[in-house]
Amino acid sequence: ASLVRAYHERVHDHYENPRNVGTLDKNDPNVGTGLVGAPACGDVMRLQIKVDDNGKIVDVKFKTFGCGSAIASSSYASEMVKGMKLDEAKNIRNTDIAKDLCLPPVKLHCSMLAEDAIKSAINDYRKKKSLQARPN
Ligand code: FES
Ligand code: FES
Repeated sequence: ASLVRAYHERVHDHYENPRNVGTLDKNDPNVGTGLVGAPACGDVMRLQIKVDDNGKIVDVKFKTFGCGSAIASSSYASEMVKGMKLDEAKNIRNTDIAKDLCLPPVKLHCSMLAEDAIKSAINDYRKKKSLQARPN
């Protein structure tokens, strides 16, 4: 039972002390920026990843203009993707985030924001890289 409590305390900590809040330089060629909105409530999340030459995510920063569940979801997801390869990060599902954070059904879309923001940041990074690789 104490293990379970320790787990829940860790989860609640993402609400009170969100990790990786901030901004990366969006002009850095190794930074991808995702900006997404939730149609259900109008909340907005920006998530940025910094990727090394091996396709590994080495840094993550986010800013969420939204509810506490969206902030906890992005904090949790940001810790999850740090150190992952892009293809692994792409497979993160909002339902996993929601389950781990015990989000109630009405808050499912808040974790969807985090999944969408990760995908959007990966797409932005890949688009940037393919433009750089294009011969003049
Ligand atoms: Fe607090 Fe599950 S995270 S009850
Ligand atoms: Fe809309 Fe949480 S992101 S209520």
